[in-house]
Amino acid sequence: MSAEIGRAPAAGGASEQRRVHIVTWGCQMNVYDSDRLTDVLAGDGWRTTASPAEADLILLNTCHIRERAAEKLFSELGRLRRLKQARAEAGGRLRLVVAGCVAQAEGKEILRRAPFVDAVLGPQTTHRLPALLARADREGQAIDTEFPAAPKFDFLPEARARSGGPVAFLSIQEGCDKFCSFCVVPYTRGAEQSRPAEAVLAEARGLAESGAREITLLGQNVNAWRGRAPEGGNWSLAQLLGALSEIPGLARIRYTTSHPVDMDAALIAAHRDIPALMPFLHLPVQSGSDAVLKRMGRRHRAADYLRLVERLRAARPDIALSSDFIVGHPGESEADFAATLALVREVGFAQAFSFKYSPRPGTPAASAAGQVPEAEKKARLAALQALLREQQRRFNEAMIGRRLPVLFAGAGRQAGQAVGRSPYLQPVHAAAPAGRPEQLLGQIREVRILAALPNSLAATVESQEHACA
Ligand code: 5AD
Ligand code: SF4
Repeated sequence: MSAEIGRAPAAGGASEQRRVHIVTWGCQMNVYDSDRLTDVLAGDGWRTTASPAEADLILLNTCHIRERAAEKLFSELGRLRRLKQARAEAGGRLRLVVAGCVAQAEGKEILRRAPFVDAVLGPQTTHRLPALLARADREGQAIDTEFPAAPKFDFLPEARARSGGPVAFLSIQEGCDKFCSFCVVPYTRGAEQSRPAEAVLAEARGLAESGAREITLLGQNVNAWRGRAPEGGNWSLAQLLGALSEIPGLARIRYTTSHPVDMDAALIAAHRDIPALMPFLHLPVQSGSDAVLKRMGRRHRAADYLRLVERLRAARPDIALSSDFIVGHPGESEADFAATLALVREVGFAQAFSFKYSPRPGTPAASAAGQVPEAEKKARLAALQALLREQQRRFNEAMIGRRLPVLFAGAGRQAGQAVGRSPYLQPVHAAAPAGRPEQLLGQIREVRILAALPNSLAATVESQEHACA
């Protein structure tokens, strides 16, 4: 046993210097939730540590979207059990909490298979973590995976200003009512909830004051956001974007993830009218076959998606598009898959994510007829990814020689190099003036694109800082 692992608990006991180490898996929503969990715990006397060995509490914030989520969790828990035992042998105490979507879906199973876990917390009751820990202390183990009637947004403390840098995430919507055949989100995250506009604006102002120049609004169905307006009634996402674009200091706004059916005329017009709204949209289509889209319960046909792309491009001609695809959904034939390739060719994506269909227990597709053999899924995924890679390469190469505004957000891999993002979300590397990347941090600079790599661009900085994006 290492001395480090066996560190005794901090003197002073429960009320001071308690340290939590949070491990986050999955999407940006989980990253955001981990920040909120940090805030909730901070209100109860906890501070964070980057070192598991120093932690009095280790919290795993889990993701359930695709394969092997549970196995990954149990293997990590096996490791943590040894850490917990070693700590106990040294007279200390380590508590373990499993949170997030695997906790929601498999909470009881986690407590049964891993009895050394202290508590299990679903994503809808983040704000109740301190109460849950107290209950676990009394009862040995505790679980909270309810979907409370009142939205969690009403209970979370205001996000603390983080000196988190120029790029920030802001959760405005959670949950999903769409029940696509393959997806666990409606079961793990619950019904759609929109955060009130006033709370969103207050958090965005706070982020801007602490240095954020770009915010990405997050939600599983972010474009279905319909929140309480500051002066009564409701706003749509387009109205919220308009109000956010007035906040001094915020030069860039993005939002993700959107569903095609919620892409209304006002939101399309916002891409024309709001310069701060970046010309990049992640708009998952999942498949190009109407038969598969129907089985998936997606509520749109391939032609509806193509029409939407046309309207978006009419509003903002340079808009770059991204998507998610699933290959091998139950019932997908060769011809269905060919329709997906045809849609990809027609749209031309700047980037995209693609996955083999993986059955999620409890979802309708998992028990549907016509499961596609693994080898077939693998071959289709390879073909789709080759096409998408080629489109991404072409999109990136088209940037060579162009001037683009880049928001610099950190140091690059090589010494003296800074890295930022183009309006189209491409990572851009450039040598920082005087070899000091920190001088570019938070600045939007015009760069000249010199070369395109598969996933990023190389550039040279041309301008002084400028105010707009
Ligand atoms: N199998 C494969 N991919 C999935 N996704 C969601 N559920 C599954 C599943 N069961 C993908 C979808 C979604 C993205 C976040 O993950 O493409 O848009
Ligand atoms: Fe899942 Fe998105 Fe479908 Fe909702 S809309 S069920 S989050 S894939």
